[in-house]
Amino acid sequence: MTLATDTHEIRVKESLIARMKSVFGDDSARIDHAMKVLGYAESIMESSLDVCSLVVRAAAILHDIGIQAAERKHGRSSGRHQEIEGPPIAREILEPMNIDERTIDHVCRIVANHHSARDIDTPEFRIIWDADWLVNIPDEYDTSDSTSISELINKVFKTQMGRTIAQKLFLRKD
Ligand SMILES: [Fe+2]
Repeated sequence: MTLATDTHEIRVKESLIARMKSVFGDDSARIDHAMKVLGYAESIMESSLDVCSLVVRAAAILHDIGIQAAERKHGRSSGRHQEIEGPPIAREILEPMNIDERTIDHVCRIVANHHSARDIDTPEFRIIWDADWLVNIPDEYDTSDSTSISELINKVFKTQMGRTIAQKLFLRKD
């Protein structure tokens, strides 16, 4: 990556975080969630070869961007409704940022699949999938049940680094 590309990506990342915060408004739990997913995605990315870091960062920041629209339009934020409402909002945010169409399309496809993994299996998608699981497991599962958590980790993670981080976080022997 050239220095110019690097600087552009840092600027895009900062702008996307600002846009994500303005969409979520005073919903600090949603903002915290997106920032944690971004942090884990960046950690997993360090051990991944040949991934587009801009796609990973943008998708991490924007993956849940449709949640409030899903609640407004459908009265609930089911995964499927989020997958439908998220991509147009992500596209509206990304298009004015001087980002090429292929990158925007890839980010939108990740947003459209982040609950179902239905139509995509790129390395960038796998990183977002795992980063989201790393944040969601302690919120949604009983991490004191190490047998179930171990089975869950073996089943859901799509990258070796994601699985390794999960094992360190949730299967610690005290
Ligand atoms: Fe999420």
